[in-house]
Amino acid sequence: MYENQTQTNWDYTMKKLSIASVLALLVGSTPFALGAHHESTEHGKGSTFKYVELNQIGDPAKVLEVKEGVSRPLKNGEVRVKVLAAPIHPSNVLQIAGKYLTLPVLPSTPGSEGVGQVIETSPEVANLTEGQLVLLAGVGTWREEIVAPAARLIPLPDLGKPSMAVIEQLSMSTINPLSALLMLTSYVDLKEGDWIVQSASNSAVGGYLIQLAKQRGIKTINVVRREGLAEDLMSKGADVVLINGPDLVKEIANATNNAPVVLAIDAVGGETFTRLSESLGEGGTLVSYGLLSGKSPIFNPGIAIGKDIRIRGFWLTKWFQTAAMPEQQAAFGQIIPLIANGSLKANVDSRFTVAEIKKAVTRAAQRGRNGKVLIVPNAN
Ligand SMILES: NC(=O)c1ccc[n+]([C@@H]2O[C@H](COP(=O)([O-])OP(=O)(O)OC[C@H]3O[C@@H](n4cnc5c(N)ncnc54)[C@H](OP(=O)(O)O)[C@@H]3O)[C@@H](O)[C@H]2O)c1
Repeated sequence: MYENQTQTNWDYTMKKLSIASVLALLVGSTPFALGAHHESTEHGKGSTFKYVELNQIGDPAKVLEVKEGVSRPLKNGEVRVKVLAAPIHPSNVLQIAGKYLTLPVLPSTPGSEGVGQVIETSPEVANLTEGQLVLLAGVGTWREEIVAPAARLIPLPDLGKPSMAVIEQLSMSTINPLSALLMLTSYVDLKEGDWIVQSASNSAVGGYLIQLAKQRGIKTINVVRREGLAEDLMSKGADVVLINGPDLVKEIANATNNAPVVLAIDAVGGETFTRLSESLGEGGTLVSYGLLSGKSPIFNPGIAIGKDIRIRGFWLTKWFQTAAMPEQQAAFGQIIPLIANGSLKANVDSRFTVAEIKKAVTRAAQRGRNGKVLIVPNAN
């Protein structure tokens, strides 16, 4: 009953979404809201808020600055949002370091997604009221407060009083779960019982992929680079967990009992890409969506020719640019209810305030985390 209610509310919310709202989901799109304005506000009477600013490309732990802004009065059509949770993604860290596909326009306010609560609305705003939870996307979310046009925010369906744990999960909903869903559905017509393989399986994307595949009866081989992860990945629904190494191709074949692997999903590059491509069956597809090793893959054309292997690339930003609105609404309509009802989750490693951003990005860049690092700006 609760799930159906959530689904119905979400369908309604998605149908009302403006194109502008969905375009705001573009990763790294220009933030709205921003600098400090030295006027008092009806709401905060000149209250201050912390935000993270980037003025030069470099080591995130060195170049990020914590600034203090003064709340400004709302303009027509704007709302004020208290940021509740926002994740740190590898793409954020890479972009700050100047190693991503796109560079930030400086000065920049980093943070590509999150969840907030509306705390003030201007009189012209009809679709949002105080207390409403909203998804924040592509807007510079590592901050305590955001002022934005109401049309740029995505209202969440009525979830009652969700726990902080649910809010944290929702704060990660516009990038990684969507990527996992799209990679599972866009390239190969997967059927129940099919085998797929992925690398970096203990990443958030990897975890979502395991959970979504399990729900459809698709079997997953999950490659990781270190011991100690099998129990967690099995609890998410993994069928097989393997440690990456020179015998990976043979180990994958043993795990499937020589049944063909129809789809490989790679976020690592280098030798991992090569091994995954060599583990595919006839006509198999490898989807590349990341380069965590920083190493270019060595691709064996002999394997591709002999087995008619297809190589594809996935970039969520491109999907937002090209997918039709009903397709985007349908994808969100699948993901959000699953996160809200707890059947799609990512692990959380640690939480930091805005003022602790240097510690937070340092942790986010470390090996062997137990999940995502979150900025929880207004935690008590
Ligand atoms: N193309 C797209 O549109 C798109 C969309 C979303 C995400 N991504 C990419 O997807 C990847 C995962 O993102 P995420 O947010 O899910 O990550 P995450 O949860 O922050 O976790 C990163 C994971 O990568 C693992 N890792 C790092 N370097 C590795 C290597 N050389 N070999 C194997 N594993 C390695 C880490 O393992 P340890 O625990 O062993 O340190 C960790 O589990 C990133 O590359 C991200 O940029 C791409």
